[in-house]
Amino acid sequence: MRAVDYDTEQHQDYARGRALGERQLRVWIDAFDAALPGRRPLAGLDVGSGTGRFTPALAEAFGPVVGVEPSVRMREVAQAQSRHPGVRYVPGAAEEIPVPSDSTDYALLGWSWHHVRDKPGAVRELARVLRPGGRLLLRTNFSDHHPRPWWLEHFPGGYEADASIFQPLHEVIALFTSAGWRVVGFGTVTEPSTGTRAAVLERLRLRTLSFFSQLGPDALETGFRRLEEAVAADPDSPAPVFDEPLLTLQWKPSGP
Ligand SMILES: C[S@@+](CC[C@H](N)C(=O)[O-])C[C@H]1O[C@@H](n2cnc3c(N)ncnc32)[C@H](O)[C@@H]1O
Repeated sequence: MRAVDYDTEQHQDYARGRALGERQLRVWIDAFDAALPGRRPLAGLDVGSGTGRFTPALAEAFGPVVGVEPSVRMREVAQAQSRHPGVRYVPGAAEEIPVPSDSTDYALLGWSWHHVRDKPGAVRELARVLRPGGRLLLRTNFSDHHPRPWWLEHFPGGYEADASIFQPLHEVIALFTSAGWRVVGFGTVTEPSTGTRAAVLERLRLRTLSFFSQLGPDALETGFRRLEEAVAADPDSPAPVFDEPLLTLQWKPSGP
């Protein structure tokens, strides 16, 4: 994929373009809850925390969280938007997480795995910081288990361009299991509709999805024109929902 530098693009509009309401956030937190051990508090990491869409809600639900984020600008937005006492944002990346070894009960890698350049290095680093039995919530797409958002079909070659950003599921699983991890869950999560079709189109115009960086100007222009026509025919109905994969892995499981 074409690399996205969040310090020069997206940071101004990300929080607005990718905003989640309370209902959407609740569905994600419930899905993470179901994938985590029941005891509280849990020491958490939000790796690639961005503008902190999830970080305060993770702290509220599970216990203290360190948001690890390489982009200075994305971190600035996160810090300005939330002062949750259980949240700390630090510079870092999946390949270099500035917390002690064996210090963490779970890590969320939410919508950030496709940006990680050194994936084997990240697998090692996540294993270093997680306690034995710790969980990794890998919320990412896979080229062969790819969501079909309702708006994507309007962009020429959109589905293929979006899917090509991601690895196939078996490749991700092999990367982790060959390094001592175990798969403990794979399913999908369906966010409630985030507004009308017209409201979602307004947010898409902000282009805060890596997908838009992969398309040339012609495909972008055609796609938005077609999408506008489709939305104009039915602007006020709720935007259709779609399923998003969640893979849960466990580091160094004890027992069978
Ligand atoms: C699509 S945003 C997701 C942000 C946040 N998790 C969310 O769901 O809103 C992807 C984030 O991954 C970050 N990122 C880029 N390279 C990374 C890496 N190697 N390790 C961790 N995060 C990275 C980007 O700076 C960006 O903030």
